[in-house]
Amino acid sequence: MLKVYVTGASGLLGRQVYNQFKQNGHSVLGTSFSRQNKDLVKIDLTDNEQVVKFFDGHEFDVLVHCAAERRPDVVLKDPKSAEKLNEKAPGMLAKLCSKKNIFMVYVSTDYVFDGKNPPYHIDASANPINEYGVSKLNGENAVISSGLANYLIIRIPILYGEIAFFGESSVDTLLKNILSANNHNKDLLIKHQNSSESNQINFKKVEGDLFQVRFPTLTTDVARVICEACTKRVLHNQLNINGIAHFSAKDPMTKYDMCKLFCEALDIPSDGFIIPVKPYPQANKESVANRPENCELSVETLESWGIDTSYQNFDNWWLSAIPKNSFISN
Ligand SMILES: NC(=O)c1ccc[n+]([C@@H]2O[C@H](COP(=O)([O-])OP(=O)(O)OC[C@H]3O[C@@H](n4cnc5c(N)ncnc54)[C@H](OP(=O)(O)O)[C@@H]3O)[C@@H](O)[C@H]2O)c1
Repeated sequence: MLKVYVTGASGLLGRQVYNQFKQNGHSVLGTSFSRQNKDLVKIDLTDNEQVVKFFDGHEFDVLVHCAAERRPDVVLKDPKSAEKLNEKAPGMLAKLCSKKNIFMVYVSTDYVFDGKNPPYHIDASANPINEYGVSKLNGENAVISSGLANYLIIRIPILYGEIAFFGESSVDTLLKNILSANNHNKDLLIKHQNSSESNQINFKKVEGDLFQVRFPTLTTDVARVICEACTKRVLHNQLNINGIAHFSAKDPMTKYDMCKLFCEALDIPSDGFIIPVKPYPQANKESVANRPENCELSVETLESWGIDTSYQNFDNWWLSAIPKNSFISN
């Protein structure tokens, strides 16, 4: 049995990582920041004193560091806060892990690449084109230069999965926009039912980006890969599990494709309602961060380690989850 500490255990990915280790019989300790949860301890990872005290008071063999500011536009607007959480905190955690010989997993992102030359292997040069990508890359480098010998930096693409609230991930934000526009249009139809101007109603439309090619990956698949890597590395002493690896689903999709799929699952006609936009709608460079075009990640390193890189099909997952409303936790 492993003793595992999961940071960001209240977040989209951290919840699944926490559950995955629990379900596999490991002892898990999780921390949150602002969210109350009886199973989690609250901590501010940007406060070194709190972090040191936490490490002094708990014993574990593995740290999975999921906490981060993952929204590129938020990082663009508040780079100082992002620097503390995305760069300084992982460096501090890695130093503490080094002292106690703890295996650290740092969750990183495909946004460390510029998206111009996919697919990306682990030795490809990083060249982030937005501040979020820079902060996560600096976090990687803080782990690497901390003196910690045993770590895994796992880069992953855009995530989807069970959400705690609408808008938690950028994928379900699309679904939220579609539902809200559709409800608005239904109200307009009722209001103008008997009006002679009903053919001039300004129905809401939803923009779907056609520029960025994404590889949306299910949070439970990422959690499974992390759990398997830690088990093989720490319990089974598979020493080659060290350094950088990439995990990703392999089905390319644009946000336009995702919007069309959501309409299909909701039985809403998408023609004339979902509007393709290209290039990425960057209305305001001060508030909307740049996005790389295609950061496809090669998973060959995980495969060479004998780790299961299978993944759930995006369409199947949503076509099953939307009618049952099972994508949102109660
Ligand atoms: N989501 C994606 O599409 C995506 C894609 C690629 C990589 N990633 C990476 O995957 C990891 C997990 O992302 P996610 O989507 O699960 O993020 P998330 O849902 O936004 O969760 C972020 C977590 O960080 C915690 N946190 C925030 N500020 C903190 C602080 N000062 N001290 C301690 N904890 C703090 C939050 O706690 P509270 O909520 O309790 O405040 C929450 O648990 C991140 O490293 C991210 O960069 C995500």
